[in-house]
Amino acid sequence: ATERTLSIIKPDAVAKNAIGEIIARFEKAGLQVVAAKMLKLDDDKAGGFYAEHKERPFFKDLVGFMTSGPVVVQVLEGDDAIAKNRELMGATNPKEAAPGTIRADFAETIDANAVHGSDSAESAEREIAYFFGADEICPR
Ligand code: CMP
Repeated sequence: ATERTLSIIKPDAVAKNAIGEIIARFEKAGLQVVAAKMLKLDDDKAGGFYAEHKERPFFKDLVGFMTSGPVVVQVLEGDDAIAKNRELMGATNPKEAAPGTIRADFAETIDANAVHGSDSAESAEREIAYFFGADEICPR
């Protein structure tokens, strides 16, 4: 079924000038960008996004990393978009990510792992609404 998912190109990938290469992978896989913007997150915005990880030992580093430079947030739309994006990204830890995946090719550490993608339909709905108003999403 046609789905939408939230994708974030993280500060490490933006710093590597890999925005275009990463978005090209989404497009080549049949996902369409229906919303996109570049943002510099602050502690509140990054912490609220990752609220489910608040009690995890890596939370402080995660927020520190996500606020260390600009990110590009996008809404991707397409058939089976949530799972398709997760396949394209590869495992959370780049050291475990399959060859040819975004994290295998652009990331070195679990903290700076190039991209985020929604992990379920429920998270996708929450995460899209966290960054985009309905008037900022452009179905094609
Ligand atoms: P992401 O998919 O954006 O969701 C939470 C992020 O926390 C994750 O990617 C990783 O970059 C980061 N992280 C750091 N340590 C861990 C860990 N041990 N388990 C899961 N995520 C971690």
